[in-house]
Amino acid sequence: MRPVVIAANWKMHTTPADAGELAATIAARTRIEAPVERVICPPFVCLAAVRDALSGTGVAVGAQNVHHELGGAYTGEISAPMLAGLASWVIVGHSERRRDAGETDELIGRKLRRAVEAGLRPIVCVGEQLDEREAGRAEAVVRGQVHGILTAFGDATIGDVAADLGESGVVIAYEPVWAIGTGRNATGADAAAMADTIRAAIAATGLVDLGAAVPVLYGGSVTAANIGEFLAEPGIDGALVGGASLKPDEMAGIVARAGLTAAARAGGAG
Ligand code: PGA
Repeated sequence: MRPVVIAANWKMHTTPADAGELAATIAARTRIEAPVERVICPPFVCLAAVRDALSGTGVAVGAQNVHHELGGAYTGEISAPMLAGLASWVIVGHSERRRDAGETDELIGRKLRRAVEAGLRPIVCVGEQLDEREAGRAEAVVRGQVHGILTAFGDATIGDVAADLGESGVVIAYEPVWAIGTGRNATGADAAAMADTIRAAIAATGLVDLGAAVPVLYGGSVTAANIGEFLAEPGIDGALVGGASLKPDEMAGIVARAGLTAAARAGGAG
């Protein structure tokens, strides 16, 4: 049974002065019985405040990025070992970083390796551009991203790749780029079809067990009003939420709906 995960990506919002209070409010408003894994990913400089605010709440803390090297002359960067004690999850390969920082599948695979080595649970983002979807190439693009990332991950590895990545608790977020921050979400059916494609692409690299077990989240203009369309799909295991994740009311609604799915799964009903 795959877990249900709701991850908040705060992007470049909040300050160390206000992040803790917002995190505490969201934690309180999303406290439910059902086993939904909640994660908040604030900016690096807010990690300590959010960690302190979330202590004892059951909500985990994630970083939004990590460097592909362990240390060295990389001005302004943050390595995986530096996140020890601050974060237990990390987002890698977000499309805004592909767009603004030139991240490639190869680089994202190396970041994934560093995250796994450091014991961080990675949320690996994939997703097509609008022109790629309109050209009927969305599935091929995402398949290529999965393959490229896992190949680079494997190349950066010494030892048993399958066991390592499988045990890391890795999660994939399918985020069509045209749906991020636009108010234009994918349909539940399209997201579910892509989740199948992602699982098959992982299995095709030889990681057959991981392909079946990996949670796949949808991301892109998720709100309390539309989360149900995604969680109604058995192949979708939660959401990576951007804009709405800064609003406690929205997060309360999203996590409440996720709780229904988690409870149904725990009861063997879905
Ligand atoms: P959005 O962002 O919910 O604001 O569309 C999602 C994301 O980028 O993870």
